[in-house]
Amino acid sequence: MGVHEINNICIVGAGNMGHQIALSAALAGFKVKCTDVNEEVLQKAEQFVSTYLPERVAKGKMKQADADAARANLMFTSDLAESASDADLVIEAVLEKLEIKRQLFAQLDSLCPQHTILASNSSYIVSSKIVDVTSRPEKVCNMHFFNPALVMKLVEVVKGPHTSEETTGTLMEVCVRMGKTPVLLQQEIYGFLVNRMLAAIKNEAIYLLDMGIAGHEDIDRAVTLALGHPMGPFRLMDLTGVDLTYYVGMERYQETGDPAYRPSPSIVEKFIKKEWGRKTGKGFYDYP
Ligand code: 3HC
Repeated sequence: MGVHEINNICIVGAGNMGHQIALSAALAGFKVKCTDVNEEVLQKAEQFVSTYLPERVAKGKMKQADADAARANLMFTSDLAESASDADLVIEAVLEKLEIKRQLFAQLDSLCPQHTILASNSSYIVSSKIVDVTSRPEKVCNMHFFNPALVMKLVEVVKGPHTSEETTGTLMEVCVRMGKTPVLLQQEIYGFLVNRMLAAIKNEAIYLLDMGIAGHEDIDRAVTLALGHPMGPFRLMDLTGVDLTYYVGMERYQETGDPAYRPSPSIVEKFIKKEWGRKTGKGFYDYP
């Protein structure tokens, strides 16, 4: 199966990552159904698209005809069964919780045609932790996008021991058609390439903050102005979601028992206060 056989893509999860992946795919000419169980999340996603496309046209970055075609290619729906029934590729972008993903993949396996590739956009959960609930191991893979997915060019395609080369090859081609640059990981590893490197910086930044060495704004300034990153680690956490940092730390701590992974006091405090970053209007910074 090659990219020419991928016409219909189903994105499960219309949150931050899901709806931007969906729109990227629709802009590339795929027919996309983006689903979510939460009507409010679906409405927000649809609202984003209705604002984003005219803005791009007004800015001169997109032709009206391309915006119209992308809008026509994209549907938001809460009907997972219908969306999965004609999908050639499913990209899962739901909450970063193993049990939720396992339940979803079992459901998808029964709803999707036998040829459908089931990919996970998970940042940390490798597909071999999910694959046993499906009857198509060779078609199960990680396909990891970056935030904001409409802008960031990289996608990590991660081959599990069960994944066929045909599947990774098709996913790499899908990425290219979406205007992305894929990298192939031949083996699964926790955090893949990018999040492993990012974690080193993020953990050090949180340590420096919790020790009272500097405030988050100065730490961000140091990283942007001295290391040349487009954003410092705290602004980036606000973009990707402080809740995600919390969940990932908790999941890893529960899995390994290693207290080094336990979310730090500043992250726990923000999580409890629902200061999750841009999506809640406040994180390390304010988003009025
Ligand atoms: N959604 C869609 N488009 C966005 C956007 C968003 N949230 N934010 C910015 N953009 C677009 C703008 O429309 C603009 O497009 P244009 O140049 O074609 O008009 C372009 O991006 C640049 O935006 P701005 O000029 O407003 O701002 P910046 O130049 O600061 O760029 C940024 C914004 C692209 C977010 C840049 O700051 C950046 O690259 N930050 C780092 C992001 C990063 O590191 N991402 C990886 C996170 S790790 C991750 O995703 C792991 C996962 O597991 C969670």
